[in-house]
Amino acid sequence: MLMTDVIVKKREGEKLSAEEIKFVVDGYTKGEIPDYQMSALLMAILLRGMDREETLELTMAMRDSGETLDLSAIKGVKADKHSTGGVGDKTSLILCPMVAAQGVKIAKMSGRGLGHTGGTIDKLESFPGFNTGISEEKFIENVNSFGIAIAGQTADLDPADKKMYALRDVTGTVPSIPLIVSSIMSKKLAAGADVIVLDVKSGSGSFMKTADDARELAENLTAVGKLAGKKTVAVITDMEPLGNAVGNALEVKEAIEVLHGEKKGELLELCLTLGACILTEAGIAENDAAARKMLEKGIEDGSALEKLAELVEGQEGDRRAVFDTSLLPMAPVQLETVCDRTGYVKHICADEVGLVSMHLGGGRATKESVIDLSVGLILKKKVGDAVTAGESLGTIHAQSVEAAKKAAEMLNACYTIVPDPVEKPAFIKGIVR
Ligand code: URA
Repeated sequence: MLMTDVIVKKREGEKLSAEEIKFVVDGYTKGEIPDYQMSALLMAILLRGMDREETLELTMAMRDSGETLDLSAIKGVKADKHSTGGVGDKTSLILCPMVAAQGVKIAKMSGRGLGHTGGTIDKLESFPGFNTGISEEKFIENVNSFGIAIAGQTADLDPADKKMYALRDVTGTVPSIPLIVSSIMSKKLAAGADVIVLDVKSGSGSFMKTADDARELAENLTAVGKLAGKKTVAVITDMEPLGNAVGNALEVKEAIEVLHGEKKGELLELCLTLGACILTEAGIAENDAAARKMLEKGIEDGSALEKLAELVEGQEGDRRAVFDTSLLPMAPVQLETVCDRTGYVKHICADEVGLVSMHLGGGRATKESVIDLSVGLILKKKVGDAVTAGESLGTIHAQSVEAAKKAAEMLNACYTIVPDPVEKPAFIKGIVR
């Protein structure tokens, strides 16, 4: 088989066979197909599309490009969650203990990734002593003992996606539904869970700019998940910074406030929605309404927070920090971002807020970058809020006054403020099951 023929076939809008797709994925993973040919094929896929069968074949070939996790030694239903990428997204820190407290098993392996703030495992390292590098045996043992473990990726999962995603990033081929679906679902399938919930972001700053595109992505993700034999649900949500905190330890603190029952709002709502989908699909609750009640009770009676403490303790972290957040890293400088206009918040550019966190040192520009867990920002105004010139838009947490001043300037520029009142848009835009 020749790669040129496969490229031409897709360029002409024809359907690729399972053999052709497998040839491409295997050849590219092994380094036998060069980047320039793969780039051409990725662009042809972006322009011509793939039908569901091709998307499923691509997903399976990518899943099988490396190791897959064997979770058969874990008793019970195992769940996993993925978000297509949000700023201030600390959902996993809340959702995982919430559902584990109800008996669903969370065996989550995550890569560190690049981004505005760290990934979930970076955030968990805010707990003094927390070990994200536990062995696979200890990982399985913890899930069986506590119902939850979250660790850095040890197995060589989905190497095809690592190479393809890096190439897509520099060839303008990220926003293609079949490529996004195969990228996300191949990783989730390799990680071995029975139930998969997906948070699909919609709006400016996300891959899917319109509600229609986000729904189409959600429908394709769930369809491929089901065809692969997994219970899969997608929740479509608005791409605005999630909750108030952006930055690793600050997000952990906010997650603890939610688990404590001190903090309500869209972040709790999202975790209840995703969690209800998991409990229902896992067969632990009869329906979403019953599942929500169980999850709310887990917050009221402290069992969800205790589950977070068990996760931390099980991985050598200091569980006292769950109940006393002054033990988490704290930046030395705090500065208010003084608003220079009066009006109503119409939009907060999530990507730009992420760059403020990056500027402070809270994110990773290259794989080698070291993250500062203590820095970040707390947004005090969200979309729909009224603001007066001189009021604070948010608090900057920085290592120096200089860095804080620059960050405050940047944060001011993230806000679109208009003279007339703004209606807050619905945060959850739909559920696809
Ligand atoms: N997230 C992924 O993991 N892959 C994509 O292609 C897009 C978002």
